[in-house]
Amino acid sequence: MNILVINGPNLNLLGEREPEIYGSNTLEELMMWLEKSPEATGHHFKFYQSNHEGEIINTLHDERHWADGIVINPAAFSHYSYAIRDAISAVNIPTVEVHLSDIHHREEFRQISVISKVCIDQIAGLGKASYLEGLKVLLEQISED
Ligand code: DQA
Repeated sequence: MNILVINGPNLNLLGEREPEIYGSNTLEELMMWLEKSPEATGHHFKFYQSNHEGEIINTLHDERHWADGIVINPAAFSHYSYAIRDAISAVNIPTVEVHLSDIHHREEFRQISVISKVCIDQIAGLGKASYLEGLKVLLEQISED
């Protein structure tokens, strides 16, 4: 399967950004860990990170014929980007939303995701394991289709 992994704003600073919340791994370490996990064996990955809403939307559009599934951490865009929500809907590719932190037990504004309804699942609060769990859920769903 071809899996597109998208990371949103400020996730390029993982490792130095609030490590008590987001952990000590850099984004590159985290993505390499995911790609090297046993679950990932035999699948093809593309990794994108952007701090810009439009770039994330363009990536979804550009990769729509390549990707069989998407793992996305939209970061703060999760809480208000109807444009990213529409883009996920538009490309119509199975998508799992992931978050490192437990957004449901943080500030009020983080407890709402405008993305979740267009995703097959949301995995939050497991640290880097959220990505792995997200990948597992995604692969299970795709292989059923
Ligand atoms: C995050 C949670 C968001 O609320 C926040 O804006 C982020 C990261 C997470 O992975 O826990 O940037 O998506």
